[in-house]
Amino acid sequence: MNEHQSIQVTDYYDADTFKRIKAFADTKETPFLVVDTATIDHHYSELVDNFPYAKVYYAVKANPAPEVLTLLRDKGSNFDIASIYELDKVMALDVSPDRISYGNTIKKAKDIRYFYERGVRLFATDSEADLRNIAKAAPGSKIYVRILTEGTQTADWPLSRKFGCHTDMAMDLLILARDLGLVPYGVSFHVGSQQREIGAWDAALGNVKVIFDRLREEDGIELKMINMGGGFPANYMTRTNELGTYAEEIERFIREDFGDEFPEIIIEPGRSLIANAGILVSEVVLISRKSRTGLHRWVFTDVGKFSGLIETLDESIKFPIYTEKTGECEDVVIAGPTCDSADIMYEHYKYGLPLNLAMGDRMYWLTTGAYTTTYSAVCFNGFPPLQDYYI
Ligand SMILES: Cc1ncc(COP(=O)(O)O)c(C=O)c1O
Repeated sequence: MNEHQSIQVTDYYDADTFKRIKAFADTKETPFLVVDTATIDHHYSELVDNFPYAKVYYAVKANPAPEVLTLLRDKGSNFDIASIYELDKVMALDVSPDRISYGNTIKKAKDIRYFYERGVRLFATDSEADLRNIAKAAPGSKIYVRILTEGTQTADWPLSRKFGCHTDMAMDLLILARDLGLVPYGVSFHVGSQQREIGAWDAALGNVKVIFDRLREEDGIELKMINMGGGFPANYMTRTNELGTYAEEIERFIREDFGDEFPEIIIEPGRSLIANAGILVSEVVLISRKSRTGLHRWVFTDVGKFSGLIETLDESIKFPIYTEKTGECEDVVIAGPTCDSADIMYEHYKYGLPLNLAMGDRMYWLTTGAYTTTYSAVCFNGFPPLQDYYI
């Protein structure tokens, strides 16, 4: 046995939920993802209970299935949108444009115009060129500027560097927004997805506070909103604090900086709402060793980096893997089915899988509801995109 082995399904799913998913999964051919919408419903309510003062903008990129969007629409969620394609999906479900934020800082002028024409009036930016495009294509809209954050070491899927700008530039942009006839509305940040260090929000909020104060004192600009992004946890192999602990700490950080009169607060959860609702089911295609005395078995399965498990890049997200076989375990390398040598999910972080695991056995990749289906290639090596079911 080794330390990475023997995950307990009950650490991730209550017995009834797992039973329900498993019973459905037993009727389908692998590979596929099953998402339990009742779990998303539960997570949404839990999130709202924990952040009663915040408006939720679901990050559609995590999983844009109509079943998910409809559920969240009916629960009152707003939507953080990354592209015109996501916008069409959400608006096709009769979501009104005042529930939508165009959160991508990288966008074409014609796409900004498209959002504006569909009625969206809330835009993120982090650069002068984009801001000038917004001023032309979406006149009078509300602008929030995304700032860079620290904490890339402690987030399993970091999001800074590419997005956000320095606080000095954020202030310049908010002043320019006003001068261009836009509404300088607020500041956003994303501390990195699956952020395990809650202090990352403290540091980011401290920078937001500086921007709020300086713009009020020096430029007479009264910002109204803080968008705290996502980063809230899902349950993977590397454990995190409970959502309640995040919420308590973050509320304390806001209170320390802004007192009891909170600005409008937005959160943009993706992973924390959806990931735990999904189980990706695959089958073992082949088990081999590379030499007669090879220490590690290679377990090849019918799902891989190109069919939904891209977040195993650099072994960043360590999905819990469950099999029905039990008994003595041995370290394995786990790889996908394609003829691409990059299609190895875990080699350095060794999963221990039962020695009696055999070809044809199923592997259950837990916590895979978010950032899997949409990352799946459409035809790499001829394999179709990952099939998904919603129960
Ligand atoms: C702008 C924005 N908001 C929210 C999210 C969702 O973050 P998470 O899945 O960590 O909740 C992302 C993820 O990429 C994002 O880019």
